[in-house]
Amino acid sequence: KSVLVINGPNLNLLGRREPAVYGAQTLSDVETICHDACHTHGFTLDFRQSNHEGVLIDWIHEAGLAQAAGTLAGVILNAGAYTHTSIALHDAIKGASVHLIELHISNVHAREEFRHHSWISPVAHGVIVGLGVQGYALSVAALAFQPAPH
Ligand code: DQA
Repeated sequence: KSVLVINGPNLNLLGRREPAVYGAQTLSDVETICHDACHTHGFTLDFRQSNHEGVLIDWIHEAGLAQAAGTLAGVILNAGAYTHTSIALHDAIKGASVHLIELHISNVHAREEFRHHSWISPVAHGVIVGLGVQGYALSVAALAFQPAPH
């Protein structure tokens, strides 16, 4: 089965962007972490990033089809700031019945008030927050433990 890792807006800037908050590792380093974790758990990796809300929604719909076909273990989504704003992403995850882990590199609950609410959490299988980029490896392990039902 495959694991689809979706990274939302500004995550292409990882490593250069607010390193005190997000660390020095780049998105390419994150891809390597995911690749290694998927290899450990016998998954194939599909790793993506987009700054565009509609593209993220299309990918969620695609994941719903793959899940129904039995080829997808689940999605790991770091929706960036769309986490806090996007009812459209909430509806997409719900509508496509996608088995999804919400991930944040930083501890959003220890940051500004506007980061405390997530539109993703109510439709996520689980949430991994504040454990740095290793959270991606932990999310892959969580999908190995509890993959999408099929
Ligand atoms: C983030 C947290 C969000 O609040 C922020 O907008 C991001 C990254 C994280 O990984 O910690 O872009 O999702």
